[in-house]
This record gives sequence, C-alpha cells and structure tokens, in this order.
Amino acid sequence: KNMRKKIVAGNWKMNMNLQEGVALAKELNEALTADKPNCDVIICTPFIHLASVAQILDKDVIGLGAENCADKEKGAYTGEVSAEMVKSTGAQYVILGHSERRGYYGETSEILKEKTLLALKNGLKVIFCIGESLEEREANKQNEVVKAELEGSVFNLTAEEFKNIVIAYEPIWAIGTGKTATSEQAEEIHAYIRSIIAEKYGEDVANETSILYGGSCKASNAPELFAKEDIDGGLIGGASLKATDFKGIIDAWK
Ligand code: G3P
Repeated sequence: KNMRKKIVAGNWKMNMNLQEGVALAKELNEALTADKPNCDVIICTPFIHLASVAQILDKDVIGLGAENCADKEKGAYTGEVSAEMVKSTGAQYVILGHSERRGYYGETSEILKEKTLLALKNGLKVIFCIGESLEEREANKQNEVVKAELEGSVFNLTAEEFKNIVIAYEPIWAIGTGKTATSEQAEEIHAYIRSIIAEKYGEDVANETSILYGGSCKASNAPELFAKEDIDGGLIGGASLKATDFKGIIDAWK
C-alpha cells in the first residue's frame, strides 16, 4: 500500500475494573510479543488503569493512551486529570474529541482545542476523533461536519505540531451499533479528510497523517476497510475488550 503509519488502537471505554484491565493487558502483551504485529498497536484505557498497564506493556510493541484529559493545566479542578498527569504514567497518547465526550459531556470544539494544545505541550500524541451523526449523514452533511470539527480544534496547529495528530473518523451511527460504514463510504470520507489536510498543511503532511476508521470495526470487516488507500487502521471499541478479537483486527495488517 503506501508508507503511512498503520495503526490499530483500542478504546476500552467504561467497561473494566482495574483487575480486568490488567489481565487483558497481560494477555495482549503476551500474544503480541509472541507474534509481532505489522502495525502500531495502541491501547487507550481509563485513567485508573494507566499506571498499572504501563508496567505490563512492552513499549516497543504496544503503545498506551488515555481516553481524555483536562482542558486546564493544573490546580483546583476536582476530579480532573491533566495531560501532564497522563504523561507521567508512561502513556504516550490521548484520545480527544470522541463523540461520546462531545455528546454526553458537552465538549465543544473550543474545549477540544485547549485539550489538544495541552496534550501536545506535554508530549502526548493525540488521536483526534471526528464524525457525523445519522441525521447529518442523511442530510449529506458529513463533509461539512468533519471539516468544521477539524477547523474548530486542530487546524490552528502548526504543520510541525500537526504531525503529532492521528485522525480517527468515527461515524456516530456506526459506534457500538454493529452497523459499520461500508468500506466505500469510509474511503470516500477519509479521502476527503486527507484532501482538506492537504489544503491546510500541504500534500506531504497529508500523506503522512494516519486516518483511522472507528465504528463496529471487527476482525471480519477490518481487512476490507484497511485495504482502502486512505484508511490507515482502526480505532476499536467493543472488539478491543477481548485479546483474541483485538488481535484478529491487528492481524488484518498481515
Ligand atoms: O472509539 C472507538 C469506538 O467509538 C468504536 O466503538 O464499539 O463500535 O468499535 P465500537
């Protein structure tokens, strides 16, 4: 295919307690050190898992990320976790802009812009999520929506900063619904996303930016999705909760 970084990232969400998460990390680490992946593998976990999981993972094989961070640097913000705190656990990534954060917790483009800047400032790479709702898709507004999301939160970055951004396109109607975008639908919008990155930062940066697909991605549909020119891997929810399911998707790159 092309020379872009291929990535399979898991997003555990609010599903496992500490012991369950540690057990999954161990199982996955064993499986992937025994049978090395052909792509970058990242697991993004709740805050409470980060420090323990960091001790388990072979960093050269599996990267670690958080699913969120605060929009403030430090101080009296009860219950918040800063980018610097995330980084101090050993994590290298953070997911920002997930539709569940936007939809259920009121995260606006402005807030996500702050979070992105703080994540980058603290040396984290950002997996930045964008994607339209079913209503927006039915009104054929998906391009407008993803463009506005990029412009609102990450197109303020310099080209050098933008190199630390991975984009995850997740159509909201495909998340946890079992309803995957077809590989053609996904490819079409991934190519569009790459074209607007090219307009903003030039062809070279656009060609180096990994754009992941998320939404009911599993071992059975990953090969077809990943075969598309502009799909550089996946951001996986449900199917990242079992080592065998997740490895099945990782193996789609073999
Ligand atoms: O961030 C990944 C995600 O939202 C997709 O979830 O469960 O449809 O794979 P799922």
